[in-house]
Amino acid sequence: MKQVTLAAPVGHKPVAGDFQMCDVATPDCPDGGVLVRVVHLSLDPYVGSQIRGRHMGEPAPRPGIDPIPGAIVGEVLKSHDSDVSEGDWVHSMQGAWQETVALKPGDYRKLDPDLAPLAAHIGVLGMPGLTAWAGMTQLAKVGLGDTVLVDAAAGPVGGTVGQIARIKGASRVVGIAGGPAKCAIVTGTYGFDACVDYKSDGWQDQVGPALGDGLSVFFENVSAEMAMMALTHARPYARGVLCGLAAAYQSDVSTGNPLNMGLIIGKRAQLYGLVVYDFYALWDAFVAEASGWLRDGELAFAEHRVEGLDRAPALFELLMNGQNEGKAVVTVAPEVV
Ligand SMILES: NC(=O)c1ccc[n+]([C@@H]2O[C@H](COP(=O)([O-])OP(=O)(O)OC[C@H]3O[C@@H](n4cnc5c(N)ncnc54)[C@H](OP(=O)(O)O)[C@@H]3O)[C@@H](O)[C@H]2O)c1
Repeated sequence: MKQVTLAAPVGHKPVAGDFQMCDVATPDCPDGGVLVRVVHLSLDPYVGSQIRGRHMGEPAPRPGIDPIPGAIVGEVLKSHDSDVSEGDWVHSMQGAWQETVALKPGDYRKLDPDLAPLAAHIGVLGMPGLTAWAGMTQLAKVGLGDTVLVDAAAGPVGGTVGQIARIKGASRVVGIAGGPAKCAIVTGTYGFDACVDYKSDGWQDQVGPALGDGLSVFFENVSAEMAMMALTHARPYARGVLCGLAAAYQSDVSTGNPLNMGLIIGKRAQLYGLVVYDFYALWDAFVAEASGWLRDGELAFAEHRVEGLDRAPALFELLMNGQNEGKAVVTVAPEVV
């Protein structure tokens, strides 16, 4: 089978040329687990950190030896799990950039393929969607009358944050995103009330008017500087969910410490760090709720999809540069063979 590994250790922002395609033996079905034909592969920002050995203490994959990690949706080819049959569909966070994966017990969840488009299970119903849902419903506990600001708003996390906020009763939802095409996704596809393009001149002056009467909740995906900017627009007792540092993951330059404690104290702000692992136990509850919103047309998603494992490195380079427009998905094989 085909597999993608690193060509050499990566000490810089990853580019397509850092990866190589290899032919390796197809794995065996593990005891108690399943062998899965990979159909959709998720590309996520954390993998850029992981291949540089910078993610949650996990080691970088060894060049030419270990496949690149990634979440997958796939069809079971063989099962040693009495609860799973050949032909069932599963989602796994322990997948990889390869055509077939061997998954150990506990490393996969069975999917109902009729619930939603299959690729949604690595996006709006997958880890990014769970992250958004956890931030909004478990941490910030967004509700009636909230005004919510989120950045990287065209992406699968940010876009889902705003939509869940709206579903839960927020009265105004504002996104920040880079460029007109992304802002069109934010207000068009996701239905936010407004989107500020932070790559346009004078964008800082647009945030306050876009929010109206200030924000009561913000969700930070990009940087401490953006979080501090959000706080300047906060009402007293605002809640902030600190989720990601997209601007810093591949940078080797420290921007110093922009924490403005006086601002946090003055605003009586409550800040929550979010690690999605803590909410994996709630995944089924989240999917049960969010698949209803999808079905009823209340929750939309955007995909930046390519076909073929050989195109994963180029899409990954776009993701590393913030040039993906929606969830980055690689369709490795057809859903129906
Ligand atoms: N804490 C957790 O457990 C957890 C779980 C999942 C995801 N996350 C984080 O949530 C954030 C959003 O994830 P996502 O999957 O929805 O990603 P995404 O939005 O598809 O991609 C990241 C976005 O960050 C923005 N960005 C700003 N500065 C950037 C820079 N210097 N380089 C690259 N991108 C930059 C870009 O959007 P603009 O052009 O619009 O700025 C880019 O598209 C990421 O920070 C991710 O690591 C955290």
